[in-house]
Amino acid sequence: MIRKPADITPDAPPAGNAFKLGLFAANCSGGQAATTVPESWPGDWDGNLDVAIMADEAGLDFMLPIARWRGYGGASIFHTSSLDTTTWAAGLLAQTKRITIFSTVHAAFTHPVMAAKQFATLTQIGHGRFGLNVVCGWNEPEYRMFGLTLAEDHVDRYAYGREWLDIVRRLWTSEQPFDWHGKYFQLEQAIGAPKPYRGQEPIILNAAASAEGQQFAMQVSDFLLTSLVDLDKTRRQVAALKAEARDQFNRPIEVFGVGHVVCRPTRRAAEDYYEYYANHHGDWVAVDQLMLIQGRHAKSFTAEELRSHRVRFAGGHGTYPLIGSPDDVAAQIEQVSWTGLAGIAFSFVDYRAEFPFFRDEVLPRLVRKSLRLEAF
Ligand SMILES: Cc1cc2nc3c(=O)[nH]c(=O)nc-3n(C[C@H](O)[C@H](O)[C@H](O)COP(=O)(O)O)c2cc1C
Repeated sequence: MIRKPADITPDAPPAGNAFKLGLFAANCSGGQAATTVPESWPGDWDGNLDVAIMADEAGLDFMLPIARWRGYGGASIFHTSSLDTTTWAAGLLAQTKRITIFSTVHAAFTHPVMAAKQFATLTQIGHGRFGLNVVCGWNEPEYRMFGLTLAEDHVDRYAYGREWLDIVRRLWTSEQPFDWHGKYFQLEQAIGAPKPYRGQEPIILNAAASAEGQQFAMQVSDFLLTSLVDLDKTRRQVAALKAEARDQFNRPIEVFGVGHVVCRPTRRAAEDYYEYYANHHGDWVAVDQLMLIQGRHAKSFTAEELRSHRVRFAGGHGTYPLIGSPDDVAAQIEQVSWTGLAGIAFSFVDYRAEFPFFRDEVLPRLVRKSLRLEAF
């Protein structure tokens, strides 16, 4: 179970894995891979449950879903279907024992009174293992589908998210009904019960890359989940972010990156498979649509990064590639850990088929590198 950085003190030093690992996007068809290969991940419930139980037993730290409401077109199944993130989390929390399960939630699509109750319920189901990933919006067609307008200005998007989270937190802590007169919400006699499990707030993460998203993280989140394109750039960003959070806001914060894994017995086999699914069978219609919306409405990637990393978008939604033999992948994860990131959320093309090899070959290597503990 992941702990809040603020709860790690000299009296309660960090326990568990030095570098956290989580599975990302298994709730979505295709996972993170925009590919037409037949083994593309269906993102169905039974598959998610199998993978979550394997991950839990292997000592992985978390499962993190993508909140998605419509796909990107194209011939593949890439994000045409995605399991609802909050009911997904409820099901997985009920059937796992140690792993942290996140829900990813659009502040704009879920009323905070509803959200506070859903998340308090999840903390009870998981005995405190639930984490909240707040997203403040970028996918403009999804906003139109909800009859909403995505704010042009990032400052407005995060101001909305901030007020939303303030209300959720107040509902988690206030024993008395309260009125709320904000910029975005007007509430009368709001009250929430149950409170989070044992009165402990769940860990809060927000997924963003822009300066505005980083400000939000420094002020109100425990973790920032951000894009990972270049290790040197990330090293500088993580150091600056943690220092600014400490100096300006007196808050400790940690940062997670995102990646995609292809691990095979040999480097050659892994690279050949990557070439096969991401290049030869990349779903370029879906990739172009994803990159178009990203380029217009998000600041997650620079224009140059979008241009030069097209295969990464087919291979893993633009995330960092961890490709090779078990020695290679363990060494790459170690290099990622040197950036100061606290962990990485990653995907496979076929999570159920590929995770056991990763578990048996890569995790022991990470134990030997002192990045992980033995599984239970
Ligand atoms: C690693 C990562 C994961 C994200 N996951 C989601 C998601 O599940 N659903 C979603 O709608 N947006 C997701 N986003 C988008 C962000 O929440 C944000 O709306 C987007 O990056 C644009 O904001 P920004 O320009 O501040 O980064 C993610 C972004 C990043 C960097």
